[in-house]
Amino acid sequence: MSAKPRGRFITVEGVDGAGKSSQIDVIAQAIRDRGIELVITREPGGTPTAEKIREILLHDEMSPKCEMLLMFASRQENLDKVVKPAIAEGKWVLCDRFTDASYAYQAYGRNQPKEWVDLLADFVHSDISPDRTVLFDIDTEIAAARLQRKLDRFEAEEKDFHRRVREGYLTLARNEPERFLVIDSSQPKEEISAFLKEEFSKWG
Ligand code: TYD
Repeated sequence: MSAKPRGRFITVEGVDGAGKSSQIDVIAQAIRDRGIELVITREPGGTPTAEKIREILLHDEMSPKCEMLLMFASRQENLDKVVKPAIAEGKWVLCDRFTDASYAYQAYGRNQPKEWVDLLADFVHSDISPDRTVLFDIDTEIAAARLQRKLDRFEAEEKDFHRRVREGYLTLARNEPERFLVIDSSQPKEEISAFLKEEFSKWG
């Protein structure tokens, strides 16, 4: 009996309003068209308990340190119950945000020490990290204009917060160019979809 092939862990990131949600479906379809079993999850969230933590995170006031800890509490749940079991079975996992978001939002956005995120990342997932990360990048003013619905606690943050988050993501991408695939989200949606379809019909 041959050993199961190793699963892959793909994450998707970007500032609020960068248009990642609709493109997640495109990536998922391209992977599934190859006959690969794919699990889609998100952070914060991904399990019933982590979804409750998400509700608190998106709507309740809290200190920056509490916010960081809850992000990682949710992440632990999602990893233990969804991500790691799927990968162990040889499935691929597509996760809407992961620890890069904690660097971008909590460290860069909220000005919390990056070392705290390093520490929590090591505590929660020293054994796993994304194989590929798609970063949807766009000018934060354009992204903000796209958000027409009622805003959550992060989306409602000031312009400088979102600028710092974007800068944080771009710094992370520059530091790990082989993992990050940076998408210019100001391009037409159809062009981005076509590019991602092509990319994920062969990647991995
Ligand atoms: P997301 O699900 O992308 O929001 P939406 O569905 O409204 O587009 O992410 C929720 C918010 O949580 C987003 O503003 C970014 C924030 N976030 C962090 O601040 N840190 C983190 O570690 C994660 C995973 C998300």
